[in-house]
Amino acid sequence: MSLQTKYLLDENQMPKFWYNIQADLPKALPAVLHPGTLQPIGPDDLAPLFPMELIMQEVSTEREIEIPEPVRDIYRLWRPAPLYRAHRLEKVLGTPAKIFYKYEGVSPAGSHKPNTAIPQAFYNKQAGVKRLTTETGAGQWGTSLSFAGSLFDLEVLVFQVRVSYDQKPYRRAVMETYGARCLPSPSNQTEYGRSVLAQRPDHPGSLGIAISEAVELAVQREDTKYALGSVLNHVLMHQTIIGLEAMEQLQMADAWPDVVVGCTGGGSNFAGIAFPFIGHALRGGRKSRIVAVEPAACPSLTRGKYAYDFGDTGHMTPLTKMHTLGSTFTPPGFHAGGLRYHGMAPLVSHCKELGLLEATAYTQGQCFEAGVTFARAEGIVPAPEANHAVKGAIEEALRCKREGKSETILFNLCGHGHFDMAAYQKYFAGELKDEQYDEKELAMALSGLPSVPEPA
Ligand SMILES: Cc1ncc(COP(=O)(O)O)c(C=O)c1O
Repeated sequence: MSLQTKYLLDENQMPKFWYNIQADLPKALPAVLHPGTLQPIGPDDLAPLFPMELIMQEVSTEREIEIPEPVRDIYRLWRPAPLYRAHRLEKVLGTPAKIFYKYEGVSPAGSHKPNTAIPQAFYNKQAGVKRLTTETGAGQWGTSLSFAGSLFDLEVLVFQVRVSYDQKPYRRAVMETYGARCLPSPSNQTEYGRSVLAQRPDHPGSLGIAISEAVELAVQREDTKYALGSVLNHVLMHQTIIGLEAMEQLQMADAWPDVVVGCTGGGSNFAGIAFPFIGHALRGGRKSRIVAVEPAACPSLTRGKYAYDFGDTGHMTPLTKMHTLGSTFTPPGFHAGGLRYHGMAPLVSHCKELGLLEATAYTQGQCFEAGVTFARAEGIVPAPEANHAVKGAIEEALRCKREGKSETILFNLCGHGHFDMAAYQKYFAGELKDEQYDEKELAMALSGLPSVPEPA
């Protein structure tokens, strides 16, 4: 009997709506606060940064938001993305579990990030914006926004975190191929960047610093707005097309996940696969366990404090309630650059507080080992970020083996690692250290959290 490996949807089966989990939450998300007044902000406060359509999506509590036809048209370049049954990995692990993975590496940029880059560029273009600024960690987001900018004829300026800029020169080359400009962050192009370099000229950078630089330039010009690749509610919502497609594909396989696993940096690919399943359960449907996997060297969900904090290091953003390691925390330079962020998406953090998901952390070495096992069984070399999800899924499959359970595991393989081969080479040469964060630095960063009185 032949074993079905890929579950594919036709283009006309692509979802027409994104799913907004805010409609189904048993308790509303805490308000976003103005850092000066500590009062909830309104749409106008965000207008210098984002087009109004995205701001309205940020605060919407409608369950479904229609995906505009021009966006769906571009999604067709790679969507619907395939769902795979990992028969070969199951065999290697000797597990009775059924493992499925949704593969987002088929996008032109090689990850899930274009799922939100395309609509963000679309709404900005519609609002008459000419130029977008952004940050990038792994280079995946910067690549995706550069690609989207080229399709909508928008100028794109990307601040790439210094360590990743040095580790991955070809990511920059791809961004430039799409017509974007890419600068290492901290840079001397912004006041904030210059102040960081003055204190530490060899600063490795962080997503928090790169965000400050991109925001600083965006607010200076009328024709320029800022685009963020994760964390915000609208970004997470754009990613739900991943889970919505997976639901259809699992039905084709006559399966439903007992466990859903994703890696978390800012939380967008994880939310993309997980939120539709959380929402399904909140509306009375079958419940799945939801597992977030993060790096032990930057463990915002497992070690961070649930508190109001800035989204950036230069303190230019509003305050959001989230799991945070402190906005001045600089994680060590491990290779999953997309997971080196001090905070977690407020929606993911809120779901954790409501007990709707679990979180776990693994070291870099453990994740690369899992990624290599996966590559040798299934053929795809995962991005270092995605290796965290692979590790989480393998752990669940091995638990099933110990317990003799044939559970169904779904995980998000959010990107390929073709630009990360230097990291794999280091792993094989035994040169990849399990970087530890500095406990003293964490304590200091947490002690600097803004003081926000709890509502009575
Ligand atoms: C392949 C990949 N996975 C995951 C992430 C982490 O971001 P998020 O948690 O928003 O999915 C990134 C970020 O750059 C990435 O490039």
